[in-house]
Amino acid sequence: MGEKVPLCVPNLGPEELRSVKEVLDSGWLAHGPKNEELESRFADYIGCRHAISLNSCTSALYLGIRALGITGEIILPSFTFVASANAVVTAGAVPVFADIDYDTCNIDPDSIEERISSRTEAIMPVHFAGQSCDMERIMEIANRKGLAVIEDSAEAIGACWSGRKTGSFGVGCFSFFPTKNMTTGEGGMLTTEDPGLAEKVRTLANHGIPKTTMERAGQKLPWKRAAVQAGYNFRMCHLLAALGTVQLSKLDQMNALRRERAADLNGRLSGASLDLPIAHARAFHTYQTYTVKAKRVAIRDAFVLGLRRRGIEASVHFDPPVHLQPFYSGSAHNVLPITEQVSRCIMSLPLFPGLTSRQADAIAAAVHETEAELKDL
Ligand SMILES: Cc1ncc(COP(=O)(O)O)c(C=O)c1O
Repeated sequence: MGEKVPLCVPNLGPEELRSVKEVLDSGWLAHGPKNEELESRFADYIGCRHAISLNSCTSALYLGIRALGITGEIILPSFTFVASANAVVTAGAVPVFADIDYDTCNIDPDSIEERISSRTEAIMPVHFAGQSCDMERIMEIANRKGLAVIEDSAEAIGACWSGRKTGSFGVGCFSFFPTKNMTTGEGGMLTTEDPGLAEKVRTLANHGIPKTTMERAGQKLPWKRAAVQAGYNFRMCHLLAALGTVQLSKLDQMNALRRERAADLNGRLSGASLDLPIAHARAFHTYQTYTVKAKRVAIRDAFVLGLRRRGIEASVHFDPPVHLQPFYSGSAHNVLPITEQVSRCIMSLPLFPGLTSRQADAIAAAVHETEAELKDL
């Protein structure tokens, strides 16, 4: 076996350690000043007025739906991580799955239009693997039909459509899980232009109490805590915000490295029997995942296993798609041919900012060896 290459490696260094140590030394570990710094810098970065740091993207999606008061249908892709659909269901709304575009694997605006009914209240585009959905068409549909837009931007931090960042079109929901474009271990962010919605989300995330402990510290009677509704504890802790502030400073550089590494892999794999990732001309792709498609669907699983045997930690995102998972299999509109076709042939190869050229050599060699091994199957 050649060099072992993990699917992803977070980009962490002494700056993150220093920032976390500063918080440890301060003794203030719950929501604190680093959260405020991260929120205000993240809002500026995305280009919106408000950002609220949370414990995950799933919480952001859930709170976005709850704060918007949506209980009807939300149209989203089935080709996504199950968290997108789970947030819809747990928030009390109804998921309706739309099909995707084969090339980008993002939700197909024509399929959204086909699924709009009198019960539709929102669209949840999911920006897959670092590439924005067609937000111009999606916003045109949403505005024409009076629908809310909740963007699942878990996989696309820093990605753009026509120069505008994902998460700035509707309510934006981001993940800082270790595989994402920036990380805090676990963590998430919700972005919005609407101050009323931001306030509702902050309150719901903080036990239904409009002010955090830190905000109450300046009050005359800081121990008075008054809930205005039943809420949750979905806050991000101060230690994680300390990680996030450093990761955000490095985000553009990390995304530039991802784009370079993806272009390099495209060159090395151009002769393989794989469909390589397609970046839409209007999208700024941030390659959260480097996904390729097996031209012969029947060999996809053997291909991934062959790469793994050679030390390359290939994987699959996403198979099965959500509508074929047991809990969701009875949902309406479950005829999704492109989703099912893509789920059967897609695979993820290692890509992260620190991927070395030796590791890229190992990936290309393993792809070519696996292909030769499978040619007669
Ligand atoms: C598309 C998508 N939505 C939602 C999530 C959930 O994010 P989190 O783990 O931060 O809750 C993920 C990631 O894991 C994801 O890939």
